[in-house]
Amino acid sequence: MATTAETELTFTSREHPSPATPEDRAAILANPGFGTNFSDHMVSIDWTEGQGWHTAVIGPREPLSIDPACAVLHYAQEIFEGLKAYRQADGGIAFFRPEANAERFNMSARRLAMPDLPEEVFVESVKRLVDADRAWFPTVEGGSLYLRPFMFASETFLGVRPAKQYKYLVIASPAGNYFKSGAPAVSIWVSADYIRAAPGGTGAAKCGGNYAASLVPQAEAIERGHDQVVFLDAVERKWVEELGGMNLYFVFEDGTLLTPPLTGTILPGITRDSLLTLARDEGLAVREERYSIDQWREDANSGRLVECFACGTAAVVTPVGQVASRDGEFTIGSGGPGQLTEKLKSRLVSIQRGEVADPHGWVTKLGD
Ligand code: PLP
Ligand code: COI
Repeated sequence: MATTAETELTFTSREHPSPATPEDRAAILANPGFGTNFSDHMVSIDWTEGQGWHTAVIGPREPLSIDPACAVLHYAQEIFEGLKAYRQADGGIAFFRPEANAERFNMSARRLAMPDLPEEVFVESVKRLVDADRAWFPTVEGGSLYLRPFMFASETFLGVRPAKQYKYLVIASPAGNYFKSGAPAVSIWVSADYIRAAPGGTGAAKCGGNYAASLVPQAEAIERGHDQVVFLDAVERKWVEELGGMNLYFVFEDGTLLTPPLTGTILPGITRDSLLTLARDEGLAVREERYSIDQWREDANSGRLVECFACGTAAVVTPVGQVASRDGEFTIGSGGPGQLTEKLKSRLVSIQRGEVADPHGWVTKLGD
C-alpha cells in the first residue's frame, strides 16, 4: 500500500496468480507486433460522483464485468491516451513527456464531460504498471512498452447525460513496428467521402468515437492498397489535416518545414510538438500553416516538396512516399525516407532512449 502525496489516493497491489510463462513471454517479446499482446498487470481506479477517485488497484490484467446497460456501451463516453516506456542506454526505464499525456487526457475528459484525473495520479499509474511489468520490454530493435491509459463511463444508466461513475484503467502492450509492411515509407489515401472531425466537434480530443468514425475510410485505404487514410477539413474539403492516428509534416527544398495548425479539429500530438522544438533547435524554420491537397500535389510534382512524414507515439516518425486520391497518385521526393526525416527521427529516438542529453527535460525515469 502506498499513497500519492497530493491526492491521498491509496494503491493496493495484487500480484498475478498465474502470469505468462517465461517461454511464452520471450516468444512475444521477440516478435511483439503492435497491440496484440499484453502484459500481466493493469491499473484500475474508480470515480463516483460525490466521492471522487477511489479504489486504486494495481492487479492482474483480467476481464471486466459490466452491465449491458453500462453507459459507455451506448453513448461512447470514453477517452484514452497512448505513451511508451523505453529501455534506456544505461539499462534503466524511462517515459517520454508523460505529463503531456496527462494534460491531454484531462483536455479530452473535459470535452467528453468526464472528471479530471490529477496529473500526478496519471503519471504514478503508468509508473506503477511499468514497475510491475518490467519483464515485458521487447527484445527487438526499436521495441518499447506501449501504455494505454483510458477512462469510460461505467454507470448502469440509459439516460443521455454525463455518467456519475467512471473507471480509469491502464494496460500495457509490448510494441514493435506499428506498420506491418515494415516498408521504408508508407502510402496514404486521401479520403474524399469521409471527414474525421468538424469545427466544434471532438477532433482535438482523444476519444474512441473519433477512431470508430475513421474505420470505414481507413478500410477504404487498405482496400485500395494503401497503409493509412489522410483526412481533409470538413468545411472546404481542401485543407490537409492528419491521418487516422498520426500528425503530418512537410519538408520543402529550401529546408523549411510545415505542419497543419491546431485549429481544434486535429489531435495535438506530443510527437508533433516535440518535433517542432527539435527542428527549431536545428535552426530550421517551421511553419504551422494550412496546406491544401492541390498545393501538396503541385509541390510534389514540381519537386518543391522533397519529403513528407507522419508522426505519433505508435508510428514514431514514418516517411510518406506515395499519396493517392480519386484524382490520381503522386510520389514525394524519391518515394523513400528523406534525409531530414531520418535526422529528426534519430534525434527524437535517441532522446527517448537516453542515448543523448535531454535538453528539454522530456525524459522521466521510472525511479524519479
Ligand atoms: N493524431 C491522431 C488522430 C492520433 O491518434 C495520434 C496518436 O496518438 C496522433 C495524432 C499523434 O499523437 P502523439 O504524438 O501524442 O502520439
Ligand atoms: C498512438 O500513437 O498512441 C495512437 O494512439 C495511435 C493509434 C494506435 C490509435
